[in-house]
Amino acid sequence: MEFGLREFVELRKLIYAKSGIHLGDEKVYFLKRRVEKRMEKLGIEDPEEYLSYLRFFDRQGRELQELIEEVAVNETYFFREFPQLQAFAEHCLPDVLERKKKGLLNTRLRLLSAGCSTGEEAYTLAIILREMVEGVDSLLAKIVAVDIDRKALDRALLGIYDTRSIRDVPRVYLERYFDNLGNGTYRVKNTLRDLVTFKQVNLADRDEVLSLGISSFDFIFCRNVLIYFSDEIRRKVVENFYLMLQPGGYIFLGHSESLSRISTAFALRRMGGYLVYQKPENADASSPLREAGVQ
Ligand SMILES: C[S@@+](CC[C@H](N)C(=O)[O-])C[C@H]1O[C@@H](n2cnc3c(N)ncnc32)[C@H](O)[C@@H]1O
Repeated sequence: MEFGLREFVELRKLIYAKSGIHLGDEKVYFLKRRVEKRMEKLGIEDPEEYLSYLRFFDRQGRELQELIEEVAVNETYFFREFPQLQAFAEHCLPDVLERKKKGLLNTRLRLLSAGCSTGEEAYTLAIILREMVEGVDSLLAKIVAVDIDRKALDRALLGIYDTRSIRDVPRVYLERYFDNLGNGTYRVKNTLRDLVTFKQVNLADRDEVLSLGISSFDFIFCRNVLIYFSDEIRRKVVENFYLMLQPGGYIFLGHSESLSRISTAFALRRMGGYLVYQKPENADASSPLREAGVQ
């Protein structure tokens, strides 16, 4: 049997139900190639048999996870979307630190890199914290970096990158925060690792996400991830982010993503010429669930 429309529709349903990743009709060949790769690994020749395998033999969901990791787009690099990071470093971060100093927020500085892929975004944030925040260790700063893709997280933990990933890292940071391993590969130093914790989390799974902490993040970076979800999943994910942010906390999306059709709960603010979303400062931290309309 050939991989046809019926197999495509069934498989994308399974992928969507588990991960929230929506594959549009134009993705037939994209999925076909990835399924063929998995079938070869398993020694299965018929797509129908592969479907049966997923339905009846994959009780723990391991094969579905493998397929999702094939489908996930992991493209990322250090200092991606530089102007946005500049707005974060020079305007949003000082704003939050100032409010912490005044005792308006808890003292710990916590950032979430949601959909962190192979770790470049999280380590970029660690460089920014090391550069911009005096006494960052005393703030017990932590960047929690999560992704559904276990293999990508393993590479993030390894922390070894090639020239493609580090192409936008300013030379002075490259020397300060990386060990040059030769052959165009670089390894992040422990000063960055110490600030980052990686964890496998499915953003489409409400319990997994909220277990990271309600009202406990000052910043959430979820860049170039929502584009892979349906509107319904986007709404749910952003609703959870709202709950996880402290009042006055910021959320950063990729440049092609916006909250306009998804949520009206955030205020749009111009920070250093850049538009960012902020949870209102007067949001009631004591009843975040009620406030977001969650029963
Ligand atoms: C294109 S990368 C974005 C990496 C980084 N945020 C950036 O902007 O450079 C998208 C990442 O989202 C992850 N992802 C997709 N669906 C997810 C889900 N349901 N839960 C967690 N991560 C997911 C993918 O595994 C992938 O690593």
